[in-house]
Amino acid sequence: MAIAPVYKQGWTMDDIHWSLFDPSKVEPNLLAAIKAAALVEYNAPDYVTYLKRVFANSGSPTIAALEQWGREEAQHGRALGRWAEMADPNFKLEEAFARFRKGYTPAHFGDAQQGSVRGSRRGEMIARCVVESGTSSYYSAIRDATEEPVLQEIAGRIAADEYRHYKLFYDTLHAQSEPDLSFWKKLWIAAGRVCESDDDELAYSYYCANVLPEEELVKPYDRKIYSRLSSQASMTVYNRRHIQKLVQMVTKAVGANPHGWLANTAGEVLWRRMSAKIA
Ligand SMILES: [Fe+2]
Ligand SMILES: [Fe+2]
Repeated sequence: MAIAPVYKQGWTMDDIHWSLFDPSKVEPNLLAAIKAAALVEYNAPDYVTYLKRVFANSGSPTIAALEQWGREEAQHGRALGRWAEMADPNFKLEEAFARFRKGYTPAHFGDAQQGSVRGSRRGEMIARCVVESGTSSYYSAIRDATEEPVLQEIAGRIAADEYRHYKLFYDTLHAQSEPDLSFWKKLWIAAGRVCESDDDELAYSYYCANVLPEEELVKPYDRKIYSRLSSQASMTVYNRRHIQKLVQMVTKAVGANPHGWLANTAGEVLWRRMSAKIA
């Protein structure tokens, strides 16, 4: 069995072996999902501004760590976007991103007076851990599902970054001087963040990434339709192992045993739900 390469933090676009790109190994469904993911990742700077506001004067995490995190997320967008441009010359990252930005701004990003929408820094960190658990599992699943060598490498590098991001936010969660939240409160925040994944961000990024501007009139945006297409395109990459890892990371973030009944039951339920959706 081949040994997976270890990807360290701090890689750049020049480290990727672009010349190995093999167009015959590009799978259309996955390409559609990657284009959408590129837009979401590339939108990180707004999130950095928001988190810097939430953590102003706290000393933790350091502003430098947040800025580094944001730079890595934006680079994920650039790497996925460049790969998608190679796979589909009709796709232009900057153009698609400009359309996405115009139509999608979460309310709490735009309001300079807004504190944490999760109610506390601890709540904010739990929500971030949920997102990083999701992205870490998603890019691991893409790495394992694709046969295209450059996408394998990019997804492997991103998955390693996302796991480090989870650790950054997990450690930050436990470094807060605020009182700990109850287990149920933590579970509520985590579940709330999972449900937000159904909002416009994924559906609209899928739309802007996969419907050309000149097609907009005949294919107007519809959240329900594009939400379904977006999950159909992305869900097929997962296997049971990726889902269990995702659930274990979230369970750990809410303070429960990642190998206990909650993780096992949640993993089983989620896997069944996903299998039913793509069947
Ligand atoms: Fe990312
Ligand atoms: Fe991340």
